[in-house]
Amino acid sequence: MTKKIVALILSPRELGNCEIIAKEICRNIPEEHELELIRLTAKDIKPCKGCYACLANGTCPLDDDFTEVARSMAAADAIIIASPTYFIGANGVLKVFLDRCMQLFSAKYSLRGKPVINLVTAGIKGEAGYSEMMLNSFSLILGLNLRASEVFYGALPGEVFFENDEQCKRAAVLGKDLFSDKERIYADWACPMCGSDVIQLLGGDKVQCVVCRNYGKLDKDGEKLSLKIEFNPDNIFFTEEQAGRHGLWLQDMKARFMKLRRKLAVLTSPYKDQGRWL
Ligand SMILES: Cc1cc2nc3c(=O)[nH]c(=O)nc-3n(C[C@H](O)[C@H](O)[C@H](O)COP(=O)(O)O)c2cc1C
Repeated sequence: MTKKIVALILSPRELGNCEIIAKEICRNIPEEHELELIRLTAKDIKPCKGCYACLANGTCPLDDDFTEVARSMAAADAIIIASPTYFIGANGVLKVFLDRCMQLFSAKYSLRGKPVINLVTAGIKGEAGYSEMMLNSFSLILGLNLRASEVFYGALPGEVFFENDEQCKRAAVLGKDLFSDKERIYADWACPMCGSDVIQLLGGDKVQCVVCRNYGKLDKDGEKLSLKIEFNPDNIFFTEEQAGRHGLWLQDMKARFMKLRRKLAVLTSPYKDQGRWL
């Protein structure tokens, strides 16, 4: 059966690096497939209002392109997310989109378990900053099955493949492996739970993985630093069960609000008329 690949492109540049890497990956997928491209930066995605109305029935009061995009992703057999690095992070539209995904806690469709490849482009080696981490954290929160995550370098549109056979070959491998049984292999310095290489220092030898938020510690194995991360049962997004529990916690918020709202109003009202809003 023809597989559907959805490529979520976070670059506004037509035929820019994100777009051509995603297309090169698809040229190398051995399985029969069709490619649907979504330029998220050209879609109308409004920022979440934080009203929690969606928790009641998965319906957001904002009228824009969110549902069209999310439903298309939910109908995909695999997803490619490609973002340029902008000031050491991913394009901010990805975060605006993620914030709106609160509604997926109670929607009738879900992205859980879908294979995803995350791609980041950056103009200067070593300057991709936390952009890859943003894409991986996006995928983990939504329960996507992260098959691979890679950074490609090139500043000009198309430059990622210009006289750069290595990057073109890397894209090809991603396509070949997308639907294969190959396990994702994590680097030996990366978080053993999610593969992230971004770790927060919490003082002493304590650390927390910034992407999966499991806790652990840094040990010394002779001259080498080694990272030990353990499963944190109180995590809110790492497993389906944890996300489900968090969904219930969110549902309970309404009841808590109804119970506390008068007391909260007493606390907040003295701040009401302070300052002048631009
Ligand atoms: C506003 C802006 C900020 C950027 N910031 C960075 C950066 O922090 N680090 C970097 O390596 N490249 C940076 N770049 C370069 C892009 O990441 C690079 O050109 C990338 O290949 C663009 O992908 P695209 O062709 O798909 O748009 C920036 C580009 C723009 C327009």
